Amino acid sequence: MSNYHIKDTEEYYQVYRKSITNPEGFWEEIAEEHFLWQKRWDKVLEGDFNDNEFKWFKGGKLNITENCIDRHLKTRGNKTAILFEPNSPEEEAQHITYNELSKRVNKLANVLKSKGVKKGDRVCVYLPMIPELAITLLACARIGAIHSVIFAGFSSNAVAKRINDSQSKVVITSDGAYRGAKTIDLKGIVDTALKECNSVESVLVVKRINSDITLKEGRDEWIQPLIDKASTECEPEIMDAEDPLFILYTSGSTGTPKGMVHTTGGYMVYTGYSFKNVFQYKENDIYWCTADIGWITGHSYIVYGPLVNGATTVMFEGVPSYPDYGRFWEIIEKHKITHFYTAPTAIRTLAKQETEFTTKYNLSSLKILGTVGEPINEEAWHWYNDVVGSKRCPIVDTYWQTETGGFLITPIPYVIPTKPTYATLPFIGIQPVLMDDNGKEIKENFVNGNLCIKFPWPAMSRTIWNDHDRYRKTFFSTYKGMYFTGDSALRDEVKYYRITGRIDDVIIVSGHNLGTAPIEDAINEHPAVAESAIVGFPHEIKGSALYGFITLKDKGACRNQEHLQKEINQLISDHVGPIAKLDKMQFTEGLPKTRSGKIVRRILRKIACNDTEELGDTSTLLNPKIVKEIMDNVVK
Ligand code: WTA
Repeated sequence: MSNYHIKDTEEYYQVYRKSITNPEGFWEEIAEEHFLWQKRWDKVLEGDFNDNEFKWFKGGKLNITENCIDRHLKTRGNKTAILFEPNSPEEEAQHITYNELSKRVNKLANVLKSKGVKKGDRVCVYLPMIPELAITLLACARIGAIHSVIFAGFSSNAVAKRINDSQSKVVITSDGAYRGAKTIDLKGIVDTALKECNSVESVLVVKRINSDITLKEGRDEWIQPLIDKASTECEPEIMDAEDPLFILYTSGSTGTPKGMVHTTGGYMVYTGYSFKNVFQYKENDIYWCTADIGWITGHSYIVYGPLVNGATTVMFEGVPSYPDYGRFWEIIEKHKITHFYTAPTAIRTLAKQETEFTTKYNLSSLKILGTVGEPINEEAWHWYNDVVGSKRCPIVDTYWQTETGGFLITPIPYVIPTKPTYATLPFIGIQPVLMDDNGKEIKENFVNGNLCIKFPWPAMSRTIWNDHDRYRKTFFSTYKGMYFTGDSALRDEVKYYRITGRIDDVIIVSGHNLGTAPIEDAINEHPAVAESAIVGFPHEIKGSALYGFITLKDKGACRNQEHLQKEINQLISDHVGPIAKLDKMQFTEGLPKTRSGKIVRRILRKIACNDTEELGDTSTLLNPKIVKEIMDNVVK
């Protein structure tokens, strides 16, 4: 018997040891005993961190939807698979059973087929958090199409970039989205994006807000009439373990987003196994992750991980503040949620409200709490623990990335004791190391280091779509023979890890991963702007917020700075999305640069963070005087 469900600390250490001394043997047992394969693999792992071509369960054949749906039908057919809570509390929740999910997925899969979608084709998904979003992912997986979900907060430019990079054939969107009291015109955004794209043959539109949209003849269609006509039977496409399951774009250090490619077999095994353990999921639990499926958290821990385990997973369409700040807690009471998994930003926002908003609801159904996406500060952790969890629910602070597919470092409830602000110990199979800037491993504790992983795990992304070279360079060139996370971390005396932040050009704002390059590119589009540099600074609610240092072509010509700031933020909104707007802007005469002309962001970061005691030696800069000018005019 394999250790599918770890129950105590001793077992954790024993299983962890097994997973690193004999990774292949370990994962083979898990894959064999708990998942459904059409054909067994020939080799568990091929490849290492030197050649960077990884194959897990090579030669294995399967379809992930058989694991997420079909195999549950006998025993869990009438169990709720997806519990949908709409934006408005006035609208009724939907309980979609596994039987119903099976039919809906098959129908949509048949619709996709009728649109000519075949194994390996890319389908772009731009939908709000409605059941059709999860169903679309599964329908793609059913027929072997590769889904590429774009978070429905990205602008038309960002959508176009991603559609062009993936060469998507079909787009699935809706006539709009509800977001609290507002609506968002998703179809309009797609229409604008598609002016720049020529790979798209059909656009299928879900009716959600009954808005008045135009359907382009020969390209656009309402999806429902097609679904109504489609058969509820659809044979699963038999996939190779290493066939791509999806592409998900994330920020990187250039203006082009990285299309992280996740494959089928290893991703399924790892997300399934980690979901089961990190949430200690039991049969009748009701699990709610508040992330959007537009991000990796939604892919791995709303859709695939929970469904592979036959769980009930909640999808919430709305926002925590609508109709008031009690919405999350109301939902927990209403559906007797047992597991609640959210982002530190949401916790900080809700902790700022009157406690009444939280305490007036009955939260006694809760058993386990979780956080993800950014470091959680001590104060927010305690509020979550005391007010939401009444000090009886372990908090799993799960550290991981789009690139890693599943958890890297995380507590396991009742197994690995928690410690505020610490992600604690590596998950099974994960071998973290801290490296110094000179490429040496840091063995001591209580030192900050660059966090790397020294052995492959089944859910890691295999490549960047269309750019394997960038994949090698980004993740495996900084430290030879290791995966570099881009994060720094501290290790304490009991070997617990605390993530201390990004060390590259990515800034995490409200848990959203933003690259500075595409934002700077957007700003530089403004005719008055000469150049710009974005850095992060600590923000009470968002964790980090964006500070832009901007030089103008002719500062004297700018009469209305406020107006210019608005225009710049509008450009950012158009090119990236509203989430990337700047909180602070400073117009400067120049930016500190090295003699070779590289902007020294380290100095700007310190200035933005009000941490100017140790700026280092600025005399070697190309323009040392600029530092004082920038400091004198810093935006408080
Ligand atoms: C950060 C989200 C501290 C980190 C799953 C990482 C965290 C980036 C945590 C990935 C955490 C994520 N504690 N920092 N528990 N979880 N991060 O790709 O900087 O959207 O590299 O994946 O978020 O963000 P991504």
